[in-house]
Amino acid sequence: MRSIVTCNPDFEDLALSEVRRASPLCSVCGKLAAGVLLLNAPFESLAAAWRAQPPIFVRHVCPAHKEVLLPSTGDAERLLVLLRAACAEAILPSLKPAEPFSVQTRIFAGDLPLKSFDVNCALAELVTDAPLAIRQPRQVISVAIGRLNTTLSAWLGLSSAADNLSDWAGGARRFAREQGCISRSEFKLLEALEVFGVALPPRGCALDLGAAPGGWTRVLRERGMYVTAVDPAALDPRLLSDSGVRYRRLTAESYLRIASEPFDLIVNDMRMDARDSARLMCAYARLLKPPDGMAIMTLKLPETKRGAVLKSALSILASSYQIVRARQLFHNRSEITLQLRRR
Ligand SMILES: C[S@@+](CC[C@H](N)C(=O)[O-])C[C@H]1O[C@@H](n2cnc3c(N)ncnc32)[C@H](O)[C@@H]1O
Repeated sequence: MRSIVTCNPDFEDLALSEVRRASPLCSVCGKLAAGVLLLNAPFESLAAAWRAQPPIFVRHVCPAHKEVLLPSTGDAERLLVLLRAACAEAILPSLKPAEPFSVQTRIFAGDLPLKSFDVNCALAELVTDAPLAIRQPRQVISVAIGRLNTTLSAWLGLSSAADNLSDWAGGARRFAREQGCISRSEFKLLEALEVFGVALPPRGCALDLGAAPGGWTRVLRERGMYVTAVDPAALDPRLLSDSGVRYRRLTAESYLRIASEPFDLIVNDMRMDARDSARLMCAYARLLKPPDGMAIMTLKLPETKRGAVLKSALSILASSYQIVRARQLFHNRSEITLQLRRR
């Protein structure tokens, strides 16, 4: 049985190592796009392994229970007829009644006369006994359409959203750019808070290491936290007039020497070697309030020896923190995001 795995294209090697650890006999059937691999690996065994220990680099996985060969020259309606028939035969009998569902279609062939939205609507219309829930589905009908060699196919599968590792098609969680947005980095923190299910204490105190230009500080302020923003680079002027922001124009190393008060949350998005950043975070652990003090940080990974650098950074952090979650999120480039709790 086949599965489709999605990851950051630059981290396919590390994602594949995670797949092989979860399912040692798996093989790659082909690539539907950069970072999207069709595997000979049973979805159920990948899902079971990752329920016990979630992967870092595999962003999304879905089953490919049914393959449909599609004509390369068909018009949109002809393609939809074939997809509806395949869904009715192979997917609908296993759909759980009353459990919220969504259809998530990804099209990797550029020249098709239809869009993901058309397929989503056409298949959702077939379901009469379960409610459609696009944002927080419990079960997902996944459809991937692409070419292997020159053959155009669609792969359909049904699974629980939790087993797919993300509620979003391919793990691609997009956010609308809010008015007042300071940097694209904000999306990283918004995604981490959502994926890790973090509830921030309103009126709590946060320390933002590597804060400039101030996107994460803005997000934390929006959530009602008071923020100490530390960075030798300039903070966005809009934050300087906010009395809930205390700006320390220093390196994190220098601020550590003068910092004394405790924080509910430390965030760290410093552009720095992952191991150095991990060591600094260990030194900062004493400033986290027990027992619930939490940290969210990115670890920047180099182009070579990324696996070894990551292993070393995680082992440094483990001396002071419990590593609650470690994920390469959709908005992470050459980095991963961690949620930490003080030991
Ligand atoms: C990716 S940016 C942070 C973006 C920020 N999270 C935002 O949302 O706007 C990385 C920042 O790390 C800062 N940085 C690098 N080394 C640092 C250090 N030793 N101490 C404090 N900040 C540092 C840089 O000045 C830079 O502003």
